[in-house]
Amino acid sequence: MKKLNCLFFLLNLLYLNTIQAQIYRPSAATERRANDLLAKMTLDEKIGQLTLYTTDWGSTGPTIREGYKNDIRSGACGNLFNSHTVGFVRELQRVAVEETRLKIPLLFGFDVIHGYKTIFPIPLGEAASWDLEAIEKSARVASAEASAAGLNWTFAPMVDISRDPRWGRVMEGAGEDPCLGSRIAEARVRGIQGKKIGDTDAMLACVKHFAGYGAPIAGRDYNTVDMSERYFREFYLPPYEAAVRAGAATVMTSFNDYDGVPATGNNYLLTDILRKEWGFRGFVVTDYTSINEMVNHGVTADDKAAGELALNAGVDMDMQGAVYQRFLKKSVQEGKVKMADVDEAVRRVLRLKFELGLFEDPYKFCDETRQTTTLLSPEHRAAARDVSRKSIVLLKNENNVLPLNKSQKIALIGPLADNKSELIGNWNGAGNANDCVSLQEGIANLRLANLAFARGCEVEGTDKSGFAEALRIAQNADVVVVAVGEKAMMSGEAASRADITLPGVQEELVLELVKAGKPVIVILMNGRPLAIPKIAESAAAILETWWLGTEAGNAIADVLFGDYNPSGKLPMTFPRSVGQVPIFYNEKSTGRPFDPNSKWTSKYIDEENSPLYPFGFGLSYTTFSYGEPKVDKAVFKKGENLQITVSLKNSGSRAGEEVVQLYVRDLVASATRPVKELKGFQKIMLKAGESREVKFTLTEQDFSFYRRDMTFGAEPGEFDIMVGGNSVDLKKVRVRMAD
Ligand code: BGC
Repeated sequence: MKKLNCLFFLLNLLYLNTIQAQIYRPSAATERRANDLLAKMTLDEKIGQLTLYTTDWGSTGPTIREGYKNDIRSGACGNLFNSHTVGFVRELQRVAVEETRLKIPLLFGFDVIHGYKTIFPIPLGEAASWDLEAIEKSARVASAEASAAGLNWTFAPMVDISRDPRWGRVMEGAGEDPCLGSRIAEARVRGIQGKKIGDTDAMLACVKHFAGYGAPIAGRDYNTVDMSERYFREFYLPPYEAAVRAGAATVMTSFNDYDGVPATGNNYLLTDILRKEWGFRGFVVTDYTSINEMVNHGVTADDKAAGELALNAGVDMDMQGAVYQRFLKKSVQEGKVKMADVDEAVRRVLRLKFELGLFEDPYKFCDETRQTTTLLSPEHRAAARDVSRKSIVLLKNENNVLPLNKSQKIALIGPLADNKSELIGNWNGAGNANDCVSLQEGIANLRLANLAFARGCEVEGTDKSGFAEALRIAQNADVVVVAVGEKAMMSGEAASRADITLPGVQEELVLELVKAGKPVIVILMNGRPLAIPKIAESAAAILETWWLGTEAGNAIADVLFGDYNPSGKLPMTFPRSVGQVPIFYNEKSTGRPFDPNSKWTSKYIDEENSPLYPFGFGLSYTTFSYGEPKVDKAVFKKGENLQITVSLKNSGSRAGEEVVQLYVRDLVASATRPVKELKGFQKIMLKAGESREVKFTLTEQDFSFYRRDMTFGAEPGEFDIMVGGNSVDLKKVRVRMAD
């Protein structure tokens, strides 16, 4: 008996070693390794791989499960988020790979939304650069820094289209347009994942929030989303698809329901569209406790049933809900969830852990020296300054008051003029406000002889006691620069606003300063389009600077004094008042299009239809003139490409960049079409006086849409092609697509 036991023990050891050798043999194909490992796992261990917990370093909801370290040790938790920096990660990874039976390394996720330590402009701000290379670079730097601090997975890019500035999370996305949003989504995925998954300076991307999260009713975060499938597919889905097709490794579900079914339990979204239509092969993670929240949505009676709904719909990993951990085993035993589906979910997670190279070296993202030399490196700061200045949008510049002259007497005023903490914005990773250059410091770096400063008021509140000092220094100056806006926590998650004007007494401060008679330059620092009609009317100049991050002050100073000629264009419409919201450029004509001379048309009786600043709008210190757009053929066949050429001239006296935008309108179609839709853009640099022929190629895809019967394709007929520097001032040519 003893001999038999001994033999059994030896055989078992041999078996384990063989399995281990297969798992750890890097030469074997990922699929083989994942399957070998899967075959070795207990159901509990499998469920552990489908579980993701936060550490106590951060949360955006309830902490459901304490003691995550014990969960790692027992194999009950295979992934963590909100744990970063080399020392912290190394210790947790050590527990996973030394103290668990199968030694499966952990994934470490974090919201690296616009930088890890070097903070870049908020994504909405970066989108205003329309500069895909710069945006990719920003994501690349963020990924290089975060992966040097132990992380291998970021919950970005956020690609939710939104037409509602009340919704605080507009700051995290690329604005209102599916075409711009898609190109930016791809650029960010490329930047985050680098050359290939497994490179030490790259992370897994996570496209979020799938899907439609940017259209909550009334702009209130987490609220219901309901719209036609036509709208959903045309305007909201494209950036998710673009990111998936660009190779994003993971996808996060959204909190909202869509057409009555919560996204986290939505088979149509997670399986039919994501996997079957788009061929997504990575894994799907929930948003924070969004499985549990399906009970509140009222589609399941309890957490256990919610877990079943989620897994059966296509959710692989449970973020923070502890639902899979508590109930999935029972659900499998009861036959409510198939073992094969659990296996497939685990396989998806394991594949990526193998691809990341974590089995070869679980500490590959834990190099102290790399961490020290990478974070906030001068090169990264330079990249941040570059993207930051490109993200600034010049909204007004009366009498060319900007750029300023370094010898002018300047009164720098405003609650955000010397601020650092708000300038790194919401979702600021591991950013440190002390590393941020305030506007005051940015200007001071230029060593101006004549600079006075007064705060004037706070961002919020009613206290006007600082007005007098602000007015006093304004009177002694040649020009007033006033920095106003929002606090970082007024935008982002759970920060919707019903009033999107400037908070507190800031607008009053600006208007008082205007009355003082000196030209007032308003620097806006905010996380959403604001309704600022009075400021738009009375300020001499306005710069929309969003929250620009670590290099904010330097970048704004570059623009203020003309060291950089602004080139940003709005990625989202600025309304005149909140009553116009949702407001967006790609609206439909309606049967009674707006006519100022006819009461019975689509309009307000107490507000204009037009926005304060339209999508795509932004000025420069130079001027650009456009020729008439020309096409290579006025009649083209379906399936044929169409070439459009437009001549662009820098007609001013400075070098500058222009974002040339091309829009299309389908004049007659089987379903109503937007009055214009962005189909292409190019950012062109021209010296003063220089001209260039700018060429665009439109393919059949660009003329296609969801037809009456919901098939996707083009319908022959007439189209207007419009080209210009924003979505309103456009030159047009009409073409016809023949059958
Ligand atoms: C947010 C996600 C985020 C997650 C983890 C949630 O509350 O909606 O965008 O990735 O928390 O921090």
